[in-house]
Amino acid sequence: MTHHNKTLGEFIINKQSEFKYSSGELSRLINSIRLAGKIVNHEVNKAGLVDILGNAGGANIQGEDQQKLDVYANEVFINTLINREIVCGIASEEEDDFIVIEGRNGKNDNKYVVLIDPLDGSSNIDVNVSVGTIFSVYRRVTPEGTPVTIEDFLQPGNKQVAAGYIIYGTSTMIVYTTGHGVNGFTLNPAIGTYYLSHPNMIFPDTGQIYSVNEGNYVHFPQGVKDYIKYCQQEEGDRPYTSRYIGSLVSDFHRNMIKGGIYIYPNTAKDPEGKLRLLYECNPMAFIAEQAGAKASNGVKRIMDIQPTELHQRVPFFCGSKNMVEKAEAFMQNA
Ligand code: AHG
Ligand code: MN
Ligand code: MN
Repeated sequence: MTHHNKTLGEFIINKQSEFKYSSGELSRLINSIRLAGKIVNHEVNKAGLVDILGNAGGANIQGEDQQKLDVYANEVFINTLINREIVCGIASEEEDDFIVIEGRNGKNDNKYVVLIDPLDGSSNIDVNVSVGTIFSVYRRVTPEGTPVTIEDFLQPGNKQVAAGYIIYGTSTMIVYTTGHGVNGFTLNPAIGTYYLSHPNMIFPDTGQIYSVNEGNYVHFPQGVKDYIKYCQQEEGDRPYTSRYIGSLVSDFHRNMIKGGIYIYPNTAKDPEGKLRLLYECNPMAFIAEQAGAKASNGVKRIMDIQPTELHQRVPFFCGSKNMVEKAEAFMQNA
């Protein structure tokens, strides 16, 4: 097989005809995201050196205030997309409101909006654990050439045209879908090129890993408590293994390769759960489904939820098909 020699750039050109509205706009958009990913990757890799390189007084060598990496990542992605005039609007987990992008002559003919979690798992940065970026792309619903409105962002996940994540891990990868399966590319940092390393990724139908923050057990709904006990029972291929990194991107990525389920349920404390529908759950759900897996809020398909607000949270059950169905059954019977 020669696919390991294929770069992301070549892959995008070859696949362009598969894109729904093949004007090249979506290709350019993904290109911008992979570029921003390289810049953020460089900064994330230096995270442990911050104090040595001059963070002592809160300012770096250039005299600029040292930024938190999630704020930095947010600016890199937003600036990259704005400067290249490649989308008409952006919504970010780090911004209160969505951003309207006016074209240079006051007119913006781009069709797509991007929703982004610029740095996911950011609390893991200080301890050298993998973090990620999650993105989601929709075609706008309001007329082209006019400023985007909230309607363009509050679309159900089943309207996504592309979604993906970048994982800044032991190696840096970009994994994405445009609705024709899922492909993963690994960055060769020496030359700054991503290579197709994981063509046509498939989520195993079942697995033996469950990923949930069990510290919150007492606050979980009964169905989730029952499912966790089921995972721990000795029978057949159980007990399962528990793995929880606390970075959704990393937990999802491992589960997609090995087979497993990720759960962030609603709790007594957070009745809607913690994860955001638009920046985290929908894009992960799209990737999961494209790889043959499932994503649910415990009762219904994540991608069929009609969002009502930008920063909406939802309970999230995502992973191997059989495992999610089992967890849903426990939710229904509780
Ligand atoms: P973010 O860093 O973007 O705020 O997201 C963190 C999320 C997600 O990545 C992770 O799975 C989850 O929060 C972990 O939450 P707990 O620490 O409550 O388990
Ligand atoms: Mn996040
Ligand atoms: Mn984040």
